Amino acid sequence: MTTAESGAAKWEETAGGQAGTPGALPFPPGFSWGASTAAYQVEGAADTGGRGRSIWDTFSHQPGNVRGGDTGDIACDFYHRYREDIELMASLGLNSYRFSFAWPRIQPGGRGPLNQAGLDFYRAMLDKLAEHGIAPTATVYHWDLPQELQDEGGWAVRDTAERFAEFAAILADQFGGQVTRWITLNEPQVSANNGYRTGAHAPGLRDNAAAAATTHHLLLGHGLAVRALRERVPEGTEIGITLDSHPVQVLGETQDNLELARQIIDANANGIFLEPLLDGRYPEHAEPYLLPPDSLIADGDLATIAQPIDFLGVNYYGSSYLRAGDPADLRQHEKRSRAALPPGVVEYLPPDLDRTPMGWLVDADGLYEHLLRLSKQSPGLALYITENGCAAEDYVTPEGVVVDSARIRYLHEHLDAVARASRDGANVAGYFVWSLLDNFEWGWGYQKRFGIVFVDFGTQRRIPKQSAHFYSSVVRANAVPPLPATWPRWSSHLG
Ligand code: BG6
Repeated sequence: MTTAESGAAKWEETAGGQAGTPGALPFPPGFSWGASTAAYQVEGAADTGGRGRSIWDTFSHQPGNVRGGDTGDIACDFYHRYREDIELMASLGLNSYRFSFAWPRIQPGGRGPLNQAGLDFYRAMLDKLAEHGIAPTATVYHWDLPQELQDEGGWAVRDTAERFAEFAAILADQFGGQVTRWITLNEPQVSANNGYRTGAHAPGLRDNAAAAATTHHLLLGHGLAVRALRERVPEGTEIGITLDSHPVQVLGETQDNLELARQIIDANANGIFLEPLLDGRYPEHAEPYLLPPDSLIADGDLATIAQPIDFLGVNYYGSSYLRAGDPADLRQHEKRSRAALPPGVVEYLPPDLDRTPMGWLVDADGLYEHLLRLSKQSPGLALYITENGCAAEDYVTPEGVVVDSARIRYLHEHLDAVARASRDGANVAGYFVWSLLDNFEWGWGYQKRFGIVFVDFGTQRRIPKQSAHFYSSVVRANAVPPLPATWPRWSSHLG
């Protein structure tokens, strides 16, 4: 018996069987089932095969930026191990895989000549996926801007949007026949906010004006890239974008100040990207310092940004809550908002919701509500959950298995929420767990394990966790089993 088989046997024995049980909630036929990764987080081989430097190489090598001084130099060594990792995906029954192209591996300077070894790597990887019938969902940009473009101002300058569209065109010309679904950008809000405003991510800037300009140029880059892809890829290929979703819920009775506060936070976190994309305008309620000045918005930009897309990628990790309260006299579980809100409103962390070890609220119902709301707002738009998952303090037992019960519960609850949303009318077409592998978790380095597959970074050995077997059973049944009336007592690490 292989490790994967004995792990699967253990999962069935401890968790009571497969997803094809009575009362299981089905997903629509043809549902896409996948796992997500991103180039800098898994590929490693940073100095191999002619790859250039990205802003994350620079940032992670500067002391103090990443926990433990970790870098993506080696990561999961996916560059050399993609064959076995794709076989692993196939063994779990996945029919889709979301990955990102590393811009500096393909066009090392962000403009100019292409790197043949980089092109060969992705072509071989795509061939391997095809061999296993796994549909590639490709992210064009998952945060690894070539350093040369950063040296010229990065996303704070308009030219980067043009360079990005050119890169998308290169990818379409090279791989258009092999990729099923294109995601232009991953979480542009995080690129602008963490990269240019708080400095927590590469390139580590703390500059509100640069962040607001970045917001516009990312959106413009998206619109130009959609156009470039659309002109080149075969008919039927899907094109969209992935946003980080931060649903905001109000607790208690409706009050004008609470509703206004909800609109402000929603506009700051969601609307600032969603409204230009879907409606061709920046949101009315966003705080002014977040918005690009009119001088940066050229005629026609908003129409370019609002190009029709085929789907919206939803990355969901939790919701936030507001209630009536006094920010100057906080009660337990209340917190003052960083946004400028009307008086009498506080953020609230409902104590009945679990937290992940990152401190994030576990809130599957928030995902249900969010999917229904999006489908109501944009009825024709397909929704893919392009990321959902949690970090946990996983370890390998002496028997060689990883019993990540808290993650199984997390996934079970969220998959149940997706199935319910689909049943109740949400236009959900697929789900990608974050992540396939434990990987380089940005500012957290290797301290946070998000994978359904454990990676021993010393040996690069992969061990599918119990959650991988649970996920696989759901994928194979295309249905999620009923939630248990009570959860087993987890050897939980939820804090
Ligand atoms: C998303 C990113 O923010 O969530 C992923 O697209 C990332 O790349 C994941 O790894 C986990 O969240 P965080 O906030 O720890 O990066």
